Amino acid sequence: MERRVTTSLAERLKTETRTLHTEAERSPFMGELLRGRMAREPYVGLLRNLHAIYAALEPALARHADHPAIAAVLLPGLARTALLQADLDAIHGDGSWRDVVDLQPAAQAYVARLEDIAESDPALLLAHAYVRYLGDLSGGQLLERIVANSMQLPPGEGTAFYGFGDAAHTAALKLAFRAGLGQIVMDEARKAAVVAEAVRAFRLHRQLFDELAAAYLVVQG
Ligand code: HEM
Repeated sequence: MERRVTTSLAERLKTETRTLHTEAERSPFMGELLRGRMAREPYVGLLRNLHAIYAALEPALARHADHPAIAAVLLPGLARTALLQADLDAIHGDGSWRDVVDLQPAAQAYVARLEDIAESDPALLLAHAYVRYLGDLSGGQLLERIVANSMQLPPGEGTAFYGFGDAAHTAALKLAFRAGLGQIVMDEARKAAVVAEAVRAFRLHRQLFDELAAAYLVVQG
């Protein structure tokens, strides 16, 4: 008898985006951030573009909150849009970032894609919830102190984006998100579609980081 081996959606997402994750992490823009060398202007550029992405993602997730693929991972405390806005107001100094900080083409394409799938295939929003929230709950946690130090932010100001409560609560949210992924029932073709959407999300992030590097970082050599 033939035995069919199926891989869970969580496992597929992790393994099939691993190389792209490494590339994103090692991109010049993220490298500058991780090394604690980033100035305020490029960082505001990053947050402003992430704000646009979350401001499209979160209402779309809320609109489809009853969809089984979304309901499983839409946990209280994940939403980031208002926190990004607070950080932008604090670091930029006022609310004018909306008008004066450019939206990069990759962020515009990202927003268009989110609006598109929210209409045509809302289950794919799950891929974007995975890429953003599990990323924020993982590597994002390393960034809080680095950002506060390199931008010399007053304690408790400008890093709300990274906050999910204390370490135990953050770890519990990450576990609950993964458990939610595990509860979603999908056939192999649908799993493949969600994984392909996560790959697309990582590629758009990489493109965004490259555009931000070109706009804000001084090229050495
Ligand atoms: C700034 C550089 C980054 C660092 C240092 C970093 C670091 C990490 C670490 C340590 C983990 C935990 C791995 C585990 O629990 O097994 C992780 C997971 C993750 N990161 Fe990142 N990351 C970075 C950037 C990103 C970016 C830009 C994205 C999204 C575009 C992202 C998305 C994810 C996702 C989705 C996971 C969960 C993987 C899984 O277990 O399924 N990360 N990251």
